[in-house]
Amino acid sequence: MSGRPKLTVRGIVKSFENDDGVLRVLDGISFTVREGEFLSIVGPSGCGKTTLLKIVAGLLEPDEGEVMIDGEVVGIGHSRVGYIFQQESLFPWRTVRENIEFGLEIRGVPPEERRQLSDRMIDLIRMRGLENHLPHEISGGQARKTELARSLVTSPDILVADEGLSNLDAQTRNYLQEEFLRIWQETGSTVIFVTHNVDEAVFMSDRILLLSNVPARIIDEYVVKIPRPRKRASPQCLEYRARILDTLRVEQEKALARQGA
Ligand SMILES: Nc1ncnc2c1ncn2[C@@H]1O[C@H](COP(=O)(O)OP(=O)(O)O)[C@@H](O)[C@H]1O
Ligand SMILES: [Mg+2]
Repeated sequence: MSGRPKLTVRGIVKSFENDDGVLRVLDGISFTVREGEFLSIVGPSGCGKTTLLKIVAGLLEPDEGEVMIDGEVVGIGHSRVGYIFQQESLFPWRTVRENIEFGLEIRGVPPEERRQLSDRMIDLIRMRGLENHLPHEISGGQARKTELARSLVTSPDILVADEGLSNLDAQTRNYLQEEFLRIWQETGSTVIFVTHNVDEAVFMSDRILLLSNVPARIIDEYVVKIPRPRKRASPQCLEYRARILDTLRVEQEKALARQGA
């Protein structure tokens, strides 16, 4: 990891209007991700994680604050971030290869070059032989890997994954965590990984940010100084897990106290 700042988020504030008036979701979020870093963001459901990722990816405009990549402010619609969505998002009528090539088609990349690039991705995700299958003919884990390949094929500066490995059985999840790490290391990507799973964050990340309940603020930061490859149930992993869960519990108690529960 070079340590050079890759992405900086500064003073992000975002509110939405809902039936009860205005809901402030993000309450001044600032952080920096270094080039090649694997950063996880952990926070309770509904605290604004997806909203934050959409702002980072230029899909949503903040009310206040800015996003900088390589020292330059980027606006809405920038395409420097590869996004892995929370819901499965493959096109059911397109094969694995055609799904992977989608972003290249949009950018007008010629067919021969598309094929070369998608070939490289099919090898990277180790799905050779499955490239002509449709999404319903592959497993949930293979579908997530195809989405990862589709995001990586355009060589984005930064990859953001929104609960990318949720809704999978434990074995598939563990396998994909390892695959995701292998691909991160092979590609040298800068990753922002959103999860509500503390074990997953500890196993995978260089650093973890904890968010509070809405309106979300960063309540703590953990630099995970465990050598890789890590072992899931190692004493070091369990120690981080315990510290993080303690912080989250205190935060939850504070939120309940505020609600007068
Ligand atoms: N477009 C929107 N309009 C109104 N409210 C929204 C919108 N998007 C998200 N919200 C609300 O903002 C809060 C945070 O949502 P979200 O970012 O999806 O949280 P998370 O991903 O952490 O579960 C939720 O209360 C959600 O209902
Ligand atoms: Mg979400």
